[in-house]
Amino acid sequence: MTSSYSICLLPGDGIGTEVIDCGCRVLDALTAQGGPQFIYDIQPAGYDTFLDVGHSLPSATLEAAKAADAVLLGAMDVAQIPPHGGDPLGGLRIGLEVSASIRPSATIPGIKSPAADIDCVIVREVTEGLYSRDEYMGDDDAAYAIRVITREASTKAARMAFEEARMREKRSGKPGLVTAVHKVGVLKLSDGLFLEACADVARDYPDIAYETRNVDACAMDMVREPGAFDVILATNVFGDILSDVAAGMAAGLGLAASACIGDRWAYFEPVHGTAPDIAGQGVANPCATVLTAGMMLRYLGEGSSADAVEAAVYAVLAEGQVRTGDLGGTATSAQMTDAILAMLNA
Ligand code: IPM
Ligand code: MN
Repeated sequence: MTSSYSICLLPGDGIGTEVIDCGCRVLDALTAQGGPQFIYDIQPAGYDTFLDVGHSLPSATLEAAKAADAVLLGAMDVAQIPPHGGDPLGGLRIGLEVSASIRPSATIPGIKSPAADIDCVIVREVTEGLYSRDEYMGDDDAAYAIRVITREASTKAARMAFEEARMREKRSGKPGLVTAVHKVGVLKLSDGLFLEACADVARDYPDIAYETRNVDACAMDMVREPGAFDVILATNVFGDILSDVAAGMAAGLGLAASACIGDRWAYFEPVHGTAPDIAGQGVANPCATVLTAGMMLRYLGEGSSADAVEAAVYAVLAEGQVRTGDLGGTATSAQMTDAILAMLNA
């Protein structure tokens, strides 16, 4: 019997609405081949939603996200939303009790990149840290942001990192390594607690090597010696920055996928933003979203469909005939998706 999944779609803003259509075309192609079926529930969230209804993550949207088997997100224009308009990404991450955002970065055959040998994944805590959204003005001339680190969230993210390292070791045969990133020399209490939680989890995974690095040194090492990393475990802001470093060292944001996974719910989003400069032109690179849909398929237990989707994307990229502007080509999003579909059906 074919499985059927309910997918809550959050197209969001800018190119989010365009790339999500491409992702769904690929999912529907799997169905047409006799693969899994998908029932979509399109829900409003993001800046445009704030303009429409006064909040960027309506409670009905969060409820629909929780009711679905998985959530696929396009992109959200977070910067324009005023404080009283809510925080759609933070709200989702906290509301869906996400343990971490998993962001793989690897060089892709056929795609020029600064690093020949990067193949790592950033496991980023995404519910607290310096993005705790706890900010206030002391007086007119002093603003404060509270960096929150808890043992619970750090432990959950650490577990996800070690599980990821085990999975990668099994797949590649290369010994797993988790690198926890910190600045404990300065953030003695908060990163002290983070590292304590990471070390506690590391003891449960004696088969996986464990090391710690200062975030500044880690950023430099990622550029100078990208092959030295496997799984990078980081608090929210350090992980935000390092995941863009890794994406830049690998194949760029146009190909960067991510999964936010918790114990009960999960949502999947390309790492890129809303790209206002090209929004509405139909030229955004849909590959990040298609690869993100692949991560969603794997989470849903549809591993062979995930493999097929990823292989199709990588084959189109390796061939190099059809490419969007960010990859030096002239293809539209639709043409790039057509090429992926043709490869999938070949
Ligand atoms: C990301 C983005 C978001 C984040 C922004 C848009 C809030 O940069 O997913 O990396 O930092 O979490
Ligand atoms: Mn980011």
